[in-house]
Amino acid sequence: MQKYILAFDQGTTSSRSIVFDHHGKIIGQNQQEFPQILPTPGHVEHDPEEIWRTQIETAKGAIAAAKINIEQVAAIGVTNQRETTLLWERATGKPVANAIVWQSRITTPICHQLSHDGHGATIRDKSGLIIDPYFSGTKLQYLLDSDPSLRRRAEDGELCFGTVDSFLLWRMSGGKLHMTDVTNASRTMLMNLHSLEWDPELLEILNIPAAVLPEIRSSSEVYGMTDASLLGREIPIAGIAGDQQAATFGQTCFDVGSAKNTYGTGAFLLMNVGHQPVASDNNLLSTVGWKIGDQTTYCLEGSVFIAGAVVQWLRDGLGIIDTSEAVEPLALSVPDNGGVYFVPAFVGLGAPYWDPRARGVILGLTRGTTAGHIARAAIESMAYQTRDLVEAMQRDAGVPLAQLQVDGGAAINDDLMQFQSDLLGTKVRRPEVFETTALGAAYLAGLAVGYWEDLDALKRNWQLDREFSPAAEEAQIEHLYGQWRRAVGRSRDWAQE
Ligand code: G3P
Repeated sequence: MQKYILAFDQGTTSSRSIVFDHHGKIIGQNQQEFPQILPTPGHVEHDPEEIWRTQIETAKGAIAAAKINIEQVAAIGVTNQRETTLLWERATGKPVANAIVWQSRITTPICHQLSHDGHGATIRDKSGLIIDPYFSGTKLQYLLDSDPSLRRRAEDGELCFGTVDSFLLWRMSGGKLHMTDVTNASRTMLMNLHSLEWDPELLEILNIPAAVLPEIRSSSEVYGMTDASLLGREIPIAGIAGDQQAATFGQTCFDVGSAKNTYGTGAFLLMNVGHQPVASDNNLLSTVGWKIGDQTTYCLEGSVFIAGAVVQWLRDGLGIIDTSEAVEPLALSVPDNGGVYFVPAFVGLGAPYWDPRARGVILGLTRGTTAGHIARAAIESMAYQTRDLVEAMQRDAGVPLAQLQVDGGAAINDDLMQFQSDLLGTKVRRPEVFETTALGAAYLAGLAVGYWEDLDALKRNWQLDREFSPAAEEAQIEHLYGQWRRAVGRSRDWAQE
């Protein structure tokens, strides 16, 4: 009987499930968007029940689309939007609050206080992270501070904290497993990057009771089985990684110095730095790439908060397109950006600026500006923000990036990828299967159950779809990038709080 691996990919705006075969090819998939809850400007929540419902429905949908039966699923791998913070009751599995999404700026005041109290260096040295509302630790602190009874219950072990992987694992196992993997734990600001354990000093600084935390495991092992009632039989859950780490793994960035950029809701550039964490001098994050057996691989990461989400905003906020796909023809309706720059700092700026008080700006408007220019500037912002990351990464690495592997929804856009290559002066390589996030989770699960033998087997699966080479004139590119940097300057430090 032919066997397959099922990947759960729980993203920021949609849940999806994909069935992969031995060659890493997609056999069937299913996806559902779910609502974004925006209670106040800069704050973003998700309904945990929607996360769960859509994820399980897409799993069933993917198995149906693949035309396989459940006996053929050898294992499940889980990958997820990272940092998003959930809190639920241990006894019932019921969430006690909405999930606070990674993009949310609700903990900006807590972060200011942490910086003010001089905790920046300790947090950086121990967790590899920069003080910013992005990470889970202050979000959990905020939830526990919001209601004294929650804090008491957390201290008494009645509540479970988890990032999305933990919550899914808990639900998939029928409430048996309260675990997370090292990659997700490395985004909490609570894990020590060197020992890979919860760090007592960080817990104290953030006032987090240890009783609420999940157990930290590797990224590739059999954590347990799904509850038989979920999909019709027990299936091993055998891989977990945060989505950006999973994409790095799916891109087979196994060599030190290899890097990928994912254009999803945000854009995330990760470079493999080997088996020891590397501290960044240029405002990048030091993070766990994956842990397999006893071996841990670390990455440097640049995180951009709004990439593909800018297209969603053009559709749902500004209303200049009806569907996301319509952005490409609209952007191509003009020959260039017409001097328009769009810094989508809707939730502040991530790497390398780390400015939670930045806000979005569209600059350079004239009477001749059309919706096409705005769409074009929006799309180009993904490439400019990526160059910001690459510049920082190159300064840290001390060598130019040899090439960049790309994936994620917007990587399908050939014009954007060509512009990206022009802007970086580097080859941009897009694989045939660019659902590399789900693929990485499948690989981690498949390795754990012996579906794939080793990393070499995975490497052989990577097939080039298209390579983009720099073709634009350098002076022109440097002018455009200079203008972008000026626009970023204008967006900085805008919000009052
Ligand atoms: O750190 C946030 C990241 O994990 C979100 O990924 O793919 O939902 O944009 P995505």
